[in-house]
Amino acid sequence: MISKAIEKPKGGWAVAPNLIDYEKVCAGYSWDAAQRELDGLPGGRGLNIAHEAIDRHAAGALRNHLALRWIAKSGEIRDFSYADLRLLTNRFANLLRRLGLSKAERVFALAGRIPELYISALGTLKNGNVFCPLFSAFGPEPIRQRIGIGDGRVLLTTVALYKRKIAGIRASLPGLRHVLLVGSPEEIRAIPNTEDFGQLMNEASDDFEIPQTDPEDLALLHFTSGTTGKPKGAMHVHQAVVAHHVTGRLALDFHPGDIFWCTADPGWITGTSYGIIAPLTNGITSIIDEAEFDAERWYALLQKQKVTVWYTAPTAVRMMMKIGTEVIRKYDLRHLRFIASVGEPLNPEAVVWGQEAFGLPIHDNWWQTETGGIMISNFAAMDIRPGSMGRPLPGIEAGIVRRREDGTIEEIREAGVEGELALRPGWPSMFRGYLNEEERYRKCFAGGWYLTGDLARRDGDGYFWFVGRADDVIKSSGHLIGPFEVESTLLEHPAVAEAGVIGKPDPMAGEIVKAFVSLKPAFVASDELRSELLGFARKRLGAVVAPKEIDFIANVPKTRSGKIMRRLLKARELGLPEGDTSTLESQ
Ligand code: PRX
Repeated sequence: MISKAIEKPKGGWAVAPNLIDYEKVCAGYSWDAAQRELDGLPGGRGLNIAHEAIDRHAAGALRNHLALRWIAKSGEIRDFSYADLRLLTNRFANLLRRLGLSKAERVFALAGRIPELYISALGTLKNGNVFCPLFSAFGPEPIRQRIGIGDGRVLLTTVALYKRKIAGIRASLPGLRHVLLVGSPEEIRAIPNTEDFGQLMNEASDDFEIPQTDPEDLALLHFTSGTTGKPKGAMHVHQAVVAHHVTGRLALDFHPGDIFWCTADPGWITGTSYGIIAPLTNGITSIIDEAEFDAERWYALLQKQKVTVWYTAPTAVRMMMKIGTEVIRKYDLRHLRFIASVGEPLNPEAVVWGQEAFGLPIHDNWWQTETGGIMISNFAAMDIRPGSMGRPLPGIEAGIVRRREDGTIEEIREAGVEGELALRPGWPSMFRGYLNEEERYRKCFAGGWYLTGDLARRDGDGYFWFVGRADDVIKSSGHLIGPFEVESTLLEHPAVAEAGVIGKPDPMAGEIVKAFVSLKPAFVASDELRSELLGFARKRLGAVVAPKEIDFIANVPKTRSGKIMRRLLKARELGLPEGDTSTLESQ
């Protein structure tokens, strides 16, 4: 275990961090003051994320500043200044208006990291609609569920993704009125019941005035998963932009002139809050790479684009560690000033490796879909304790709590004691509910706290340390996966009687999805059936969500009330003590 802190440079910063005196800033912090860093809509017409991200810069000194640089898989580059973004997002907002969308109706996007995705996200917000990005590697089933739950009115996607994933489920989504396709006009014309994004954009006007937007108006819908039940649509409002903006400055240390690269896909919340919104509200340049992870491509990109601030994820860091530091020496990464990581536990070794590989430690930070923005962070000016998530952002009160037998909540103030990580509600980017699931939302709060579902401890100096999840949700390569969604799909196969799904520890991905299935009497376990089930799940769920391993078992262990005992499956898989099995149904 690495226990030594990585000390902050003693005053020798090339650029002074934004947050130096942590205690002082926390003591005097007010979200109202933070909000004053933003402009609000002209004429006191409220607060709109897209105005803060684009229009206010497009109307000022940053008009011609590079806002987004998109790098295609092929290496082709397309640049968008703040003025360009204003015009394009105005067109998209006009396009939605022309389609007759009413306020708060949902616009979904299923696309890789292409410019149209970024333009539609911000254009949707301009028109007062709600943007809901989906991960393009999802299979048809997770897509159908989410568009259905979210009652999607418009979907932006590409011709290729439409053919592979939407055509087969379209009939089951009657509320989806418009499908806008990115692709060649000839191909789009041949697909019934779809519209040409490019053509509609060309026909749309360049001028758009953002309508009155209440800070509490819905803006973003991000799906996340729990142990049981359907995916949950976490609802975020325009007010969230206050947190996006200040956490960009305080936790990611954005400075004017920065070139920022967030490697996350907007299909997950990191890729929206920090891959789209925070860098733009801060008026800096954001790099978007269309391609998937490739260590050498990434180092070349960091060098060529002179990236200064880099936000990535532990799985990527572990993949880079595996390749080694030798290759990094070929690149000139002197512009890099700050590296941060999120989404899953960052091994202490990875923090130290960053120091060796890039001359910079990797700053872990913590948050969730529900929190909307970074809540706990290793700040640029702080000593880093490798393996710790850091300390709460100014304006955020975090605690460790325990549920008493009677269901009430007790805060654990003692250092080093494990409990559930909890946050005091009230920060601007806090989710405002799970769409149409009041009860599930209500259950997240008790004793004046928002309960995160994570287990953690706090040390004597106020640093938080991640321990694990309090539930059965799986984290694979940073993606949150609900076991129930996977089990339900496996049950659709005619051979499967029961299924139980767990996260199996994996040195690279953190966890992989592993399923245990019992078969119906007429079926016999075989390698062929296993391959068939793996393929069946992959086709429906997509590669990210589908199990990587399947074992056949005689019975899936359940409680007497019929709940799958995933913890027991996991203990058996890992050869750990089985714990309390008194509620196990006799088999
Ligand atoms: O379990 C925690 C883990 O990721 C969960 C949130 O996942 P999601 O809603 O997909 O949010 C993604 C936005 C970051 C958390 O409940 N997690 C996140 N960051 C860390 C982490 N686990 C350990 N260390 C972290 N830094």
